[in-house]
Amino acid sequence: MTRMVQDYREYLKEILIPEDVLQQRIAELAEEINRDYEGKVPLLVCILRGGVMFLTDLVRYLRIPHEIDFMAIQSYGVGRREPGEIRLTMDLQSSIRDRHVILVEDIIDTGHTISQVLRLLEVRQPKSIRVCVLLDKRARREVDVPIHYRGFEIPNYFVFGYGLDMDGYWRNLPFIAVPDLNKYRPPRTLPGEEKD
Ligand code: IMP
Ligand code: MG
Repeated sequence: MTRMVQDYREYLKEILIPEDVLQQRIAELAEEINRDYEGKVPLLVCILRGGVMFLTDLVRYLRIPHEIDFMAIQSYGVGRREPGEIRLTMDLQSSIRDRHVILVEDIIDTGHTISQVLRLLEVRQPKSIRVCVLLDKRARREVDVPIHYRGFEIPNYFVFGYGLDMDGYWRNLPFIAVPDLNKYRPPRTLPGEEKD
C-alpha cells in the first residue's frame, strides 16, 4: 500500500505566525511562569497530541523545577456522542493531588474541550490549576474558560503546523499556517507494489 500525502506547500495560503514570533512569545510566557511559580514545583500537563510542540519548547525556557505529564482525549463527538463531549483515551501517570497544575494546550476554539478537562482534573483536588494555551480563537467561544497564559488570539481560521495537523500530518512545521482548503486533497491509501 502506498500512502499519498500532499505536500503542504501546494495548499499553503499564509503563514499566520512565523517561527521567530512564535518562539519569542513562548519565551515570554515561560518568563511569566518562572515568575509566578517561583519557589513552587508545578506539574505541566500536556494534552496530546496537539500540545506537544508547545510543551517541549515552553519547558526549555523554564528555569524553575517542574515536572511534565501527558493525557490524551478525543474531542468532538463522533457519531452518537454529543458535540463537545470528550473521552479520556490516556490518563496521567502522576497524581495531581495537592499539586500546582498548568494545563498546556495548543488551541482553544469553542472551549468545550478545555472546560471538560478542567472539570475532570478538579475532582482530583490539585492545589491549583491554570490554563496555558498557545492559540485562542476567541470569536468561536461557546463556554467560558479561564485562560491564565495566552500566546496569541487568532481569527476564526482553521490552522495547522506546530503541533496542529492536517488529517494527522505536518505537525512538525515550526510555524502556524493557514491552508487553502480548495487546494487541499486529503491523504489516501493506494494499492502499491510494496507490501507495507
Ligand atoms: P474546542 O473544544 O472547540 O475548544 O476545541 C479544541 C480542539 O479542537 C483543539 O484541541 C484542537 O484539537 C481542535 N481545533 C480547533 N481549532 C483547530 C484548528 O484550527 N486546527 C486544528 N485543530 C483545531
Ligand atoms: Mg488539541
